[in-house]
Formats: sequence, C-alpha cells, structure tokens
Amino acid sequence: MFIVIEGLEGAGKSSAVALVNQIVAERFPEREIVNTREPGGTPLAEEIREIWKQPRQEPMAPITELLMVYACRGQLVETVIKPALERGAVVIGDRHNLSSVAYQGGGRMLADQVAALSTITLGEFSPDLTLYLDIDPAIGLERARQRGELDRIEQEKLSFFERARACYQAAAATDPRIVTIDASQPIEAVHQQIRALLELNL
Ligand code: TMP
Repeated sequence: MFIVIEGLEGAGKSSAVALVNQIVAERFPEREIVNTREPGGTPLAEEIREIWKQPRQEPMAPITELLMVYACRGQLVETVIKPALERGAVVIGDRHNLSSVAYQGGGRMLADQVAALSTITLGEFSPDLTLYLDIDPAIGLERARQRGELDRIEQEKLSFFERARACYQAAAATDPRIVTIDASQPIEAVHQQIRALLELNL
C-alpha cells in the first residue's frame, strides 16, 4: 500500500506523516514501513532536491524545475517505492505526483507538460490513498515563515499558491482516492480525522 500526504506549506504535513506512521505501525506491527519524501528520498534525488530548493541568482526556468522534480520522482519510484511495494512494505510518502499537478501544473501553469511527464515517468502508477491537508495559503505561508527562512518555492507570490490550492481541490473533487482534510482546524481535530479515515481505508 502506498499512502501519500499532500498539502501546501504550513498545512501540517510533517505531523500528519508522523501520525500516519504511528497508525500503520499499530495496525500492521509485522509490516515494513518505508518513508519517502519528494523531491528526494534517494541519495541522488536528495542531491537534486538541494539544488532545486536553493534560491539562486540565475532564475530557474519553469521547465527546468519541472524536469528536475520528475527526474527525482522517476529515480525514487523505480529504485525505492516499487521495490518496497513488491516486498510487501507500506510506503508512506511526504508528497508525490499531486504536488507537481498543484505547484507546476497550477502554480507555474504547466498543466499539459505535467500530464505528459507524469505519463512518461509513472504510467499508471499512483498512490492507493492520498490525504490532502487543505489550508488557505495565506495562513500556511505565515506558519512556514515563522519556521525560518523561505526556500525558492516558498518565496513565490500568494497567487502562485492560490492556483496550486485550486488544483489540489479540483483533483480531490474528481479522484475518490484523494481525501481532503481541513487543515485549518486545531491539530487534535485534524489528527482525529486522519485516524478515522485510516481506520476506514486500511
Ligand atoms: P517540502 O517537502 O519541504 O514541503 O518542500 C518541497 C517543496 O517543493 C514545496 O515547496 C513544494 C515543492 N514541490 C513542487 O513544487 N513540486 C513537486 O512535485 C514537489 C514534490 C514539491
């Protein structure tokens, strides 16, 4: 089983990932759990992540950003995720393809290129369940700002994140395997909802 946690900056992804790990471990004490994050999750993909996140003088062309994130995803899926699933592990992903649909497809307005690269890189491969933590970007970015310095993507305008959120919401409205959680609620309520959802879906 491949479970993914998605959402804009400041949505509370990290604590949701920790909770999903705990619930899966309680439910399947014998099963191996493999955690991934994107971009990254393999030594090579983590190196690309560093370059990718770093603010730089040379502007990164949107197509470069897109190709780099799919290079990472291809490496991660082929060398980590698919082998783990074949071994019977539960894979818990901190972001996956839906991030590209939202950030590059919506934020950068490259929806056609995202669709094409997604087909080339993943074919029919997709998560069994995605928990989408929905947050107003103005609130989420403020939380991210309080955590410290903003990376290259976090420095984008609010309108970029509003377009990304609209794409997340549109995808969640059409795909029953994407479940939306209102991340503006108190953390206890968010966690209770995640628990209830996993009890139904695991
Ligand atoms: P994070 O995992 O620490 O949130 O950082 C990843 C950043 O990269 C975040 O700003 C979202 C962005 N991102 C994309 O723009 N497209 C993608 O496909 C992925 C996986 C992440």
